[in-house]
Amino acid sequence: MMDSPATGQHTATLTLDGKSLELPVLSGTMGPDVIDIRKLYSELGVFTFDPGYTATGSCASTITFIDGDKGELYYRGYPIDQLAERSHYLEVCYLLLYGELPNAAQMEDFENRVTRHTMLHEQMQYFYRGFRRDAHPMAIVCGVVGAMSAFYHDSTDINDPWQREVASIRMIAKLPTICAWAFKYSIGQPFIYPRNDLDYASNFLHMCFAVPSEPYDVDPILARAMDRIFTLHADHEQNASTSTVRLAGSSQANPFACIAAGVACLWGPAHGGANQAALEMLREIGTPDRIPEFIARAKDRNDPFRLMGFGHRVYKSYDPRAKVMQETAREVLDLLGIDNNPTLQVARELERIALEDEYFIDHQLYPNVDFYSGIILEAIGFPTSMFTPIFALARTVGWIAQWKEMLEDPATRIGRPRQLYVGAKARDYVEVENR
Ligand code: CMC
Repeated sequence: MMDSPATGQHTATLTLDGKSLELPVLSGTMGPDVIDIRKLYSELGVFTFDPGYTATGSCASTITFIDGDKGELYYRGYPIDQLAERSHYLEVCYLLLYGELPNAAQMEDFENRVTRHTMLHEQMQYFYRGFRRDAHPMAIVCGVVGAMSAFYHDSTDINDPWQREVASIRMIAKLPTICAWAFKYSIGQPFIYPRNDLDYASNFLHMCFAVPSEPYDVDPILARAMDRIFTLHADHEQNASTSTVRLAGSSQANPFACIAAGVACLWGPAHGGANQAALEMLREIGTPDRIPEFIARAKDRNDPFRLMGFGHRVYKSYDPRAKVMQETAREVLDLLGIDNNPTLQVARELERIALEDEYFIDHQLYPNVDFYSGIILEAIGFPTSMFTPIFALARTVGWIAQWKEMLEDPATRIGRPRQLYVGAKARDYVEVENR
């Protein structure tokens, strides 16, 4: 349970048409203070206007903190680079869900619970078979996650803490199976069942790349890279998909419906879809000599083109996840003996040029997590269409942790933004023959 945000000694005063309102200023443990405007409408009769929520805090949270100016990211106070180096994804899941790192017994119990929930209801296979073979795996993942509420009725009551817990474990455990099967379906191969003797990342790789006709050994370096990608994507405070999950959850929708809403939001190229778009862009650039042409397009206000994998709403400095991704990309390509990968060459050169370019410096545009992740995923053997489902798999734990926190927060009310109405004034209906 989180403590209420501290109300500092100071207040902000807003004066409108001669009437003044003292607004409390709340302080968190890190980050800027926030002005509590909850009484604004009842006291002054006005709303705030903030499309895109660039200056609006939607909730108090104890889970993740980003310092966008310094390029720092913390899960429950632990820096992301330490977790990426020294922890592993399931331990990070525990940390995000329960607030503290587990001891050995807690870890074993959690791992057991996740491992024993990895199978899908057998009837879900038929659901898969209803999709076209050429469906984007993200469309399948979104549909199957939403359909979980039709298969697991005993964990849809959000008012029962035990059911909330079971739904959470089910989603963390089953997302790898759901994503791997979306992949298998798209390439016409048989579904591979989960293996409980493998760790989380190895099991996912096995379900994606094994076939029944011969053994498949998971390379530990690739499994480690996969695990690191999961860890780096696990949570990112109130981003678009997480806010979508919270908004859906605020209506008391069932957990599977809320996470399906998050998957749908993540799909867009401005959010989780950027990893697919970034790799496709690097391929389109093709060779370093074409980079200036693309940089010029990115700077041209009349051209909608953007450098995918660059820029972030919160980071105004290098995305700390991109640093770890860059190192992991190197390790994976070395392991696979891909030392002159043209996509990586273009990526490195594009990054170098962009970081020296006045436009990118002025706009504080740095590579983000999606800039390098696609290179790693491609080297592991995934098609670009699987990049965003993998992001969704990894982010599921963050969505769940945020959803649970919201349900347990007594301040939670249904999310219901207001608007500045600029449409037609009230007018009378006119019969069709008189229009
Ligand atoms: N390439 C060229 N110019 C850019 C880019 C870019 N990638 N990103 C922002 N800008 C410019 C933009 O044109 C605008 O310029 P001006 O002020 O001169 O009109 C300025 O920077 C601010 O852009 P914005 O769209 O107002 O910024 P935002 O905070 O609303 O958008 C963003 C953030 C991530 C959507 C955007 O940077 C973008 O579209 N990046 C490319 C897509 C991408 O890589 N997304 C992944 C984000 S990280 C993974 C995740 O968390 O989902």
